[in-house]
Amino acid sequence: MKKVLIDTDCGIDDAIAILMALACKDFEVVGITTVSGNVYVDKVNQNVLRLLSFLNREDIPVFRGASGPLSQKPVRAETIHGKDGLGSVFLPETQKSLESQNAIEGIYLLAKQNPGLTIITLGPLTNIAMAVNLYPELNHLMGNIIAMGGAIDRGNVTRYAEFNFYADPESVQYVLNTPIPMEIIPWDPCAEQMFTEEEIKALIPENNRVGDLFLSLQQLPFSFVEKYYGVRSTILPDPCAMAYAIDEKVALRKLVGDIRMELNCNTHRGETVQCEGDRMNIILKLDRIKFLNILKTILIL
Ligand code: BDR
Ligand code: CA
Repeated sequence: MKKVLIDTDCGIDDAIAILMALACKDFEVVGITTVSGNVYVDKVNQNVLRLLSFLNREDIPVFRGASGPLSQKPVRAETIHGKDGLGSVFLPETQKSLESQNAIEGIYLLAKQNPGLTIITLGPLTNIAMAVNLYPELNHLMGNIIAMGGAIDRGNVTRYAEFNFYADPESVQYVLNTPIPMEIIPWDPCAEQMFTEEEIKALIPENNRVGDLFLSLQQLPFSFVEKYYGVRSTILPDPCAMAYAIDEKVALRKLVGDIRMELNCNTHRGETVQCEGDRMNIILKLDRIKFLNILKTILIL
């Protein structure tokens, strides 16, 4: 069993990625840490707690994380994820509460209990940077980081920058400066995988409550994409990253390389700049069929 911790700004596609991790027979999700990103952290907490209750997985501890980025004003993505972060989809109220420790302490405790822990990040890297700063032992306790973030050719927030890395580029650079093994699934290979409403509907059997949730969650992204491209479709960046974490064979092409963040306050701020080195794997292309097969596993939950 691979022990994983998910750090998330949950988020419509984050919610689906969490479902995938919970459906994965090879994963033990030892904890979830929340972070401000798509929406403010209090909303992220509610989304994660409600999702876990809906799935009868209240055993998984949830730790409240950073309320904003290290050194800039917050950036949100409410046009894509809705004001509550989950497109106003109905998830019942929950009795489950947050752990008393914060996300930084949670990451440290869980990494100490599970040396070699894999951290899967689906949002800005604020918590990870703060945790490694406060507890440098994490440099060696953490096994690896698999991050959805960055853009190689074209971003989604600006021409150059992808949301998760743009939302807190200083924290990304901080993490890049550590020796923790890291792999990134940038925006580009995820954006290449667009799924129409028909394709998504075809995956979902009747009377499947997780399938129904998945479809309801996609309504806002479908409408958003329709407005710009004229077709009801969706892109699933966090599920793409989770699929890679579950089975790296989903990557058809990856590059061993290195990146740095553009931190200057100009139009390139938040850009993923490729540089010399072999710091990490950068995923460049995904296998659509393999991805869909992993995605479909959520229907067993
Ligand atoms: C990333 O930004 C967020 O809006 C998504 O949840 C994903 O993590 C894609 O750029
Ligand atoms: Ca996310």
